[in-house]
Amino acid sequence: MKILAIGATGFVGSRVTRQLMGQGHQVALFHRGDTTTRDLHSLIHFYGTRNQLPDFKAQFEQFAPDVVLDIIPFTEAQAQDIIPVFGGFLQRIVAISSGDVYRNYEGLQGQGNRPPDAVPLTEDAPLRETRYPYRDLEGLDFEFQQDYDKILVEQVLMEHPDIYWTILRLPAMYGAGDRQHRFLPYLQQMVDQQPILLEEEQARWRFSHGYVENIAAAIALAVTDDRAAGRIYNLGEASTPTLLERIQTLGNLVNWHGEIVTLPKDQLPSHLQMNLQWQYHLAMDTTRLREELGYVEPIPEAEALQQTIAWEQENMTTTSLEQ
Ligand SMILES: NC(=O)c1ccc[n+]([C@@H]2O[C@H](COP(=O)([O-])OP(=O)(O)OC[C@H]3O[C@@H](n4cnc5c(N)ncnc54)[C@H](OP(=O)(O)O)[C@@H]3O)[C@@H](O)[C@H]2O)c1
Repeated sequence: MKILAIGATGFVGSRVTRQLMGQGHQVALFHRGDTTTRDLHSLIHFYGTRNQLPDFKAQFEQFAPDVVLDIIPFTEAQAQDIIPVFGGFLQRIVAISSGDVYRNYEGLQGQGNRPPDAVPLTEDAPLRETRYPYRDLEGLDFEFQQDYDKILVEQVLMEHPDIYWTILRLPAMYGAGDRQHRFLPYLQQMVDQQPILLEEEQARWRFSHGYVENIAAAIALAVTDDRAAGRIYNLGEASTPTLLERIQTLGNLVNWHGEIVTLPKDQLPSHLQMNLQWQYHLAMDTTRLREELGYVEPIPEAEALQQTIAWEQENMTTTSLEQ
C-alpha cells in the first residue's frame, strides 16, 4: 500500500512510519524537515509547512497514495485545506484526533454546566459544547493554540461528501520522547523518598493513557485496514485505572515503598491545588477498535512502563530507582 503521511517524523508519527515500513508499505513523508531520524532518510520526503500543501498537489498525484495519514490536523482551516489537495485521487484520509473532543473534557476544565458523562466514553459519547479548548490558556507554547479544535477537524472530514475518512481519538501518550514527561513528577518524588500528595477526588480520576508504540500500532492498523473507512475509533489502554492505581503500579515497578497521601483540596500545598473538576473522567472505551479491527497491543503494559521509566531516569536529578 502507498501511504502519504503528514507530520509523521515526530513522537508517535515516526513510530507509525517505522511500523508501516516494517510491514512492507511504501511511505512518503510531508514535513518541514526539522524533525527526522537517520532511519527515515531513505523514504521520499516532501519538505514544506502544511500551509504549502497545495503547492505539492502534482507531486502527490504522481506518488498516488492509497491513504493519506494526517498526524497533525489541529484547526478547521487545516482540515478544509487538505481536501482540494487530495480530492480526485485520494482513497481515504486517516486523521489524528484526541480524547479532548468529549464533553467531560470541558467539565474537567470547569466549563459547561452538564453533570459528568458515564465512563468509559464510547465513540458515541457526547462531545464538548464549547469550542477552542486551549484558546487564551496561559503557559502553552503551541503555534495553533488559538484555533485548535479537533471537533471541527473531525466535522470537516466527516461532512464532506467525496472523502472516505477514519478518525482516531488518541489518549495521553507516554514513552521515550514524551515531551510532557507525564510520569516524571511521580518518579522524581519516589527517588526523592517523598510522600506523593494527591487531592482526594484526583486520586480517583480516570484518564486514558497509551504507550506510544502501542498507539502507533493502532494507527498503522487503521491506516492499512479498509474496514476502518467511515469509522471513529478511540485508542488507548483496554481499561483505565484511577490515578492512584497508576502511581501504585509505577511504584511497584521501581520497588518504591513510600506513601500516597490523599487530602481535601484545601489541605494540599497551594502549588498542588489544581483548578480541575476531577469528577469528570476521561476514560475512553476502546472496544470498537479491538472488535472491528482485531487490535491487540504489541507491547505488554509492564514492559511499556519499564521502558518509559528507564528513559525518564535520564531526566531525573538523581537516578536511584531500582528496576
Ligand atoms: N501527545 C499526546 O499525548 C497526544 C494526545 C492526544 C492527541 N495527540 C495528537 O497527536 C498528534 C501529535 O503527534 P506527535 O506527537 O507525533 O507530534 P510531534 O512529535 O510534535 O511531531 C510533529 C510532526 O509534524 C511535523 N510538523 C510540525 N509542524 C509542521 C508544519 N507546520 N508543517 C509541516 N509539518 C510540520 C514535524 O516534522 P518537522 O519538524 O520536520 O516539520 C513532525 O513530523 C497531534 O495531532 C496531537 O493532537 C497527542
